[in-house]
Amino acid sequence: MIYNLGSINADYFYKVPRLPVPGETLAATSMSCGLGGKGANQSVAMARAGVEVRHIGAVGGDGQWLVDQMAKAGVDTRHIHPSRYPTAHAIVMVDSDGENQIVIFPGANQDQNPETINNALSAAQPGDWLLLQNETSHQKETARIAAEKGMVVAYSAAPFDADTVAALLPYLRLLIMNEIEAGQLAKALGAELLHLPVANVLVTKGTRGVDWHDTRLMQTVSIPAFPVTAVDTTGAGDTFTGYAIAGLSSGLSPQSALRRAAAAAAISVTRAGTADAIPTSREVEAFLA
Ligand code: RIB
Repeated sequence: MIYNLGSINADYFYKVPRLPVPGETLAATSMSCGLGGKGANQSVAMARAGVEVRHIGAVGGDGQWLVDQMAKAGVDTRHIHPSRYPTAHAIVMVDSDGENQIVIFPGANQDQNPETINNALSAAQPGDWLLLQNETSHQKETARIAAEKGMVVAYSAAPFDADTVAALLPYLRLLIMNEIEAGQLAKALGAELLHLPVANVLVTKGTRGVDWHDTRLMQTVSIPAFPVTAVDTTGAGDTFTGYAIAGLSSGLSPQSALRRAAAAAAISVTRAGTADAIPTSREVEAFLA
């Protein structure tokens, strides 16, 4: 079982000819809205990859439609707490190359409920996984409870903050960052990636694939990305992370899990949207075949 303490956002997409510069007003050519948030996207990716995932999160009174979409995708939503704050949302601008710029209003994501978290994890067994990202409150407390229970704790460190990563490191088995963030973390801690006190570090490098660092074996394995023409890169990292955790938690080797994850991310960038763009495992198998 995978538990995911994660954000739930309403994503408002604005298609723009190019990303605006400071002080500029720009007209969007289209607009749409869908389920998003790094946490929800990763839960949907894990469910579509075929593993059982229980999402721990919070939405306001205006967020039931997002919870319904998560449930429809196969995510267990029983531990989503009703917050007195409004549901979080994101303003996502996507340019003609599929690149984006995102502003988040955190709302209910910062109002996680300790009782809900404790209730959720009371059923967890040693060997179950806990996944976290940096868009909610209560990450450190939740990671500590999970580590004490013998769970495998994985942290997808986005949006990146070196101090938050440092605070979580004692509880982590797997840390996921992009290569810029990995450089920032190595600098902040004064340690090379292979010397970080965490068993595995996964570094995503966009179109150049990913590196899997095993700090116990002092080994690095590189997995290439699949070349595709991007329509919208929003949520590709979440698709990758969800599929990677699904594969690793099911006992796949890092090579196999990450190759599937790279295929899922490649499919997602050929589609518009975030959670809506995440492929099913059948689509991933067909792509790999
Ligand atoms: O990673 C993409 C996600 O970042 C979007 O869904 C948006 O809500 C923000 O959380």
